[in-house]
Order: sequence, then C-alpha cells, then structure tokens
Amino acid sequence: MNKTPGQILDEAKVLLAKAGAEQDFEAARIKYLGKNGEVTALLKSMGGMTAEERKEFGKAANLVKREITGLINGGKAALSRTLVAAKLMKERIDVTEPGEGFPLGTLHPITQTIDEISRIFMGLGYSITEGPEVETVFNNFDALNAAQNHPSRDLTDTFYITKDTLLRTQTSPVQVRTLKSNEPPIKVISPGRCFRADTPDATHSPMFHQVEGLLVDEGVTMADLKGTLDAFAKRMFGDGAVTKFRPHFFPFTEPSAEMDMSCFVCGGGGCRVCKGSGWIEILGCGMVHPNVLKVGGLDTERYTGFAFGMGVERIAMLKHGIDDIRLFYENDVRFIGQFA
Ligand code: DAH
Repeated sequence: MNKTPGQILDEAKVLLAKAGAEQDFEAARIKYLGKNGEVTALLKSMGGMTAEERKEFGKAANLVKREITGLINGGKAALSRTLVAAKLMKERIDVTEPGEGFPLGTLHPITQTIDEISRIFMGLGYSITEGPEVETVFNNFDALNAAQNHPSRDLTDTFYITKDTLLRTQTSPVQVRTLKSNEPPIKVISPGRCFRADTPDATHSPMFHQVEGLLVDEGVTMADLKGTLDAFAKRMFGDGAVTKFRPHFFPFTEPSAEMDMSCFVCGGGGCRVCKGSGWIEILGCGMVHPNVLKVGGLDTERYTGFAFGMGVERIAMLKHGIDDIRLFYENDVRFIGQFA
C-alpha cells in the first residue's frame, strides 16, 4: 500500500522536527524531493490516473511538496541563524575593556646622559659635531701635542688598527678635525665612543663614552672656561653644586685643570659617594695649547680657547648611584628599564 500525501507530510514533519544539522535537512530533501524521493514518486504516480483523480491528487501532492520544501528551507534558515548567533556570542568583544598595553622601550642611560649634556651646551650656544671612532695616530696623539714617549701611546694601552690608525682613546681628536675645517668663533661639543685596552672591572671598560668641548675665539680666558663649566655643573647636578679647579696636566692644554664638584649627595660633608672628601672629580679641562691651535693653522697671538672632556659613564654613574660600569653594556632590561 503506497503512502498517502497526508502520511508523507506527517512523517516529514516528525523527521524535520528532529533535524539539527545541515546534513539532516539534505537527507530529508533527498528522501522526499530527490529524483527517487517519496514526493517525486507521488507526482510520477499520477501518470495512470484519470483527469478527475489527477486534479485532486495533484493538488494534494503539490501542497505536500510545497510544505516539505518550506519546512526544509525554514529549518535550514533557522539553523544558520542559530549558528551565526552562537559564533557572534563566542567572538563578542567588550569594547569597554581597557587595552592590554605593551612594554615601551626606553633610551639607554648613556644616551640619556649624552642628550642631557648636549641640551645644556646647546642652551649655551654650542653645536654638536662628531668624529670617527677609527682615528689617525696623528689626530689622536701628535696633533694633540702628546710626546713621542707618552705612555698612552703604548701598544698595551691603545688598540692600534695599523701603524698609523687606531681606535681613538679620547674624543679630543675631534678638536683637531674641528680646528682644521672651521674658522673661529668655534663653539662645539662632541660626544662619542672611545677605546682603551683596559681589563673590565667596576670602573673600567675597554669601550666607553666621552663628551669633548672646544671653544676658540678672540680674547677667550680661563674665566670663560670656569664660568661655562660651573654653569654646566649647576644645570646637570643642581643649583647647589659648587665647583673648584685643581691644576693638572694634559698635553693639549696649558694651563690644564681638573674640575671637582661639591658632592651632590652629602653637599660636601663627606660620604661614601665622594669617599669622604666632599668633592667629586667631574672632568678635565684647560686652555687650548698653542701647538694645537697651530695644527689648525690659527694665529695664536689672535686666538685663544678652552677645551674640556668628560666621561659620560662616570657622570651617569654619579647621577644614578650606579656602582659598576659593566651594567651599562650587559643589556639587562631589569637595569635599563629603570631609566624609563
Ligand atoms: N682627553 C682627556 C682624557 O681622555 C680629557 C680631556 C682633558 C679633554 C682636558 C680635554 C681637556 O679637552 O681639555 O682624559
């Protein structure tokens, strides 16, 4: 006994009510509406009917076909709505949540210190110039009036590249380059890396940084040097800084001095940082030696000048209470991150 259209529809309704996935609907479509489907068979079976029968039966069969088609399409649409809704729920973002934030890098404390020194001297009208790290022996020593037997020329103290070139041991050769290629008034500072054959320890590193300074003009005196460097110390370490100048020797300056500053930790009373003396050595300086001015072709009767040089690591260590120079070069973010 063949199923009636009504029976097929009832069964289809039961089956589709249980459909929960795409395949279920596809299976139902094939079962009822496919080439060998039950509804298709109904329609095919009308071939042997009378016109009267066919009218009635055709109407019923087509109604069943429409209903089942509707159920399948409706079910599929509902399913896809459910899936989309679930997906949206899963991917929901709370736009009011604070962002995750990511770590920002920071300038290295040496760079920060050079920047700070540079800003102070730029405020005093200096320009910044740079020289090469690989220098000539002439610029690093001879032109700076260093005697042939000066100990720093020794192979055990200086990294030579060739007989005539080396890794500069100081930024002072930039003085020579500047004097050769500029006319007074000259007013420059020059930060950069220097190299000496030192074994690393808490206060020595074979690579370190200096900032050189040079001012040459008519009528420049030691008073200009003292005023300039005293102003620098006060900007760098605070208005309470008191400076004093001790006689010293450098081949390229005459007279030469070292500048000390009242200890910014104890104010001069004596403490661990100043090793009890109340004073801290900050830099070397002096009036540019006429022999150096002559290398630049200057008339030493007309022009005078002063120069100075300071160790960047030393200043950074003093300012931040750092007790080992090697910390600067180990790239440990726990150290560097403290200068953000
Ligand atoms: N070049 C010296 C050094 O490395 C530092 C220095 C001293 C630089 C006196 C100067 C100066 O320009 O006038 O120890």
